[in-house]
Amino acid sequence: MAEIAIVPDAVAGGAVAARDIAAIVTRNPEAVLGLATGSTPLTTWDALAAMREEGLDLSRTTGFALDEYVGIAPGHPESYRCVIDREVVDRLGMDRARVHVPLEAGQDPTTAGAAYERAILAAGGVDVQVLGIGRNGHVGFNEPGSSLASLTRIKTLHPHTREDNARFFGGSIDDVPVHCVTQGLGTILRARRLVLLAWGEAKAEALAGAVEGPVSAVLPGSIIQLHPSVLVVADEAAASRL
Ligand code: GLP
Repeated sequence: MAEIAIVPDAVAGGAVAARDIAAIVTRNPEAVLGLATGSTPLTTWDALAAMREEGLDLSRTTGFALDEYVGIAPGHPESYRCVIDREVVDRLGMDRARVHVPLEAGQDPTTAGAAYERAILAAGGVDVQVLGIGRNGHVGFNEPGSSLASLTRIKTLHPHTREDNARFFGGSIDDVPVHCVTQGLGTILRARRLVLLAWGEAKAEALAGAVEGPVSAVLPGSIIQLHPSVLVVADEAAASRL
């Protein structure tokens, strides 16, 4: 059963998640962090950036992002490589050379997944994986129907997810990539701890399904029920259907 923290808002929630992550890094300055993109984790990065100013040192940590778009121009500001560099690496003082995304410029998307799995294993596995959740229950880019045992691989994005993310691409769904390389649900389950964040009413149904519904590929976030060490942080609106 996951530990659930219900907080007034995303700022308070980011502080809770950041404390959890900071405790892991304090115990092990070389901890391996699983990084997520999307708007949800931003307040967690804000809180960690504030802790950095007070002395938290993340410079020796390693990072593995959940996912990356296929076919996006290298250096495109919405590529997750750039998003992670901008929102996480620079602000938290991580070492860019130790922060990885599942598809780097020039890599073949059909073999990148297996290489990413090897890199995660070689780093000793992920100590704490930060997760958001999509309205349809997706985690990373594992859309409904993804195998619960899946590993990092190329996937097609659901049209709803492309619609949701069109706001990052000037509003047009046509400009949102069609494919991605994402960690699988099996990859995510190998992390030693999961921290799942959800803010706002739009996430309430997905969160309730993830925490209390049947464990099923229909709602990929429900994999958290298979994991022994999970912290869920939700604001009151996102927690309203629990
Ligand atoms: C995106 C990301 C996911 C993220 C989710 C929710 O497409 N690939 O990792 O959790 O959708 O996004 P947001 O946090 O902006 O609501």
